[in-house]
Amino acid sequence: MFEKLQAPPPDKILSLISAYAEDTRPNKIDLGVGVYRDETGATPVLETVREAERRLLATQKTKSYFGMGGDPAFCRAIVPLIFGTDAPSDRIRALQTPGGSGALSILMGFAAKLTKRIHIPDPSWGNHAAIAKHSRLEILRYPYFDAATSRVNFPAMKAALEKAEAGDLVLLHGCCHNPTGADLSREEWSELADLLIEKKLLALVDLAYQGFGDGLDEDAWAVRHLASRLPEMLVASSCSKNFGIYRDRTGAAFVLGKTSQEAAVAEAQVMMEARTGYSMPPDHGAAVVRIILEDEALYAAWRAELETMRSRIADLRRGLAESFRRRTNSAAYDFLMESRGMFSLIGVTEEQAKRLRSEFGIYLVDDGRINIAGLKEDQIDTFVEAVVTVKG
Ligand SMILES: Cc1ncc(COP(=O)(O)O)c(C=O)c1O
Repeated sequence: MFEKLQAPPPDKILSLISAYAEDTRPNKIDLGVGVYRDETGATPVLETVREAERRLLATQKTKSYFGMGGDPAFCRAIVPLIFGTDAPSDRIRALQTPGGSGALSILMGFAAKLTKRIHIPDPSWGNHAAIAKHSRLEILRYPYFDAATSRVNFPAMKAALEKAEAGDLVLLHGCCHNPTGADLSREEWSELADLLIEKKLLALVDLAYQGFGDGLDEDAWAVRHLASRLPEMLVASSCSKNFGIYRDRTGAAFVLGKTSQEAAVAEAQVMMEARTGYSMPPDHGAAVVRIILEDEALYAAWRAELETMRSRIADLRRGLAESFRRRTNSAAYDFLMESRGMFSLIGVTEEQAKRLRSEFGIYLVDDGRINIAGLKEDQIDTFVEAVVTVKG
């Protein structure tokens, strides 16, 4: 039977990883895959994660099953991290998931029981549409990014969502938009909340980079604002980046209901999605996160480690924008300083991205997305020179 199968198209980012590994040039630069890198180019295990793992090893007495929603203690600990301490917690239910992807998957599967359509920003992280398609949701794209200004085109976004139908699902990036790095301002989030309420749209907020933009609480501002105003909403969060536990597959799915009872029923429905998908989430990463969140000193130390990552990205953004200013004598790349998180679109064509790879050993995604954290400080000017050269 397998002879009937055709190989799926190769994943663009994964193909970049192998092409980069095979490149023997010593000065090659990897700006492709979306993981944080420190100044040595490593994606290290955080010290607080190591300490939590030591404690886990010393104290864990059983590896027996938790339920479909994972460890209740993890779920309790993660709610204030995302929703803050003033959260309407009686209306919020949390489920531990295999990464942010697992959360998106069960939430879209759940939403597909209520609605048929999802609005996804153009552009967005590629897996959003892939998961939506898998959940049999009809995908509509709303304009998000203005390539001419490299900033959010909020009027166009609003105009598109004005036309959405009541009950439609709307996917939003909570912070550090992937791939553009361009986020809504607080005023725009507030206007968007008005629109979501008026049009009776169901928001699904993806929060994958909390702590990588302006800070842990600052980056959750949009989620918290929407939670304080919307009757119902869904949130998918990831611990992959901010705890650096990518392969341990840890995240959470949240349901905000109109009432505590409605939230509980919705949670039970989301659990059914988990049941038929992966049954129960992996425990290790969630146990590590729980230990960190429950211990005051460890929590403070983790926040400091996260701040180190965040400020490295902010410094690189500033350094890049300044280098482009010097090289081009213009403010055309100042958006790099204003954008948030690991990613920005550098504004090259697919052809130019390929040239950057072949001629300069600079690996970035074909759409021009760069992972800023992949740069070392002393590579900034080389990178800028290469971009200016290929853009002509
Ligand atoms: C926007 C966005 N959402 C969700 C995820 C999911 O991350 P994970 O499943 O590794 O936690 C990613 C990962 O790259 C992402 O970029």
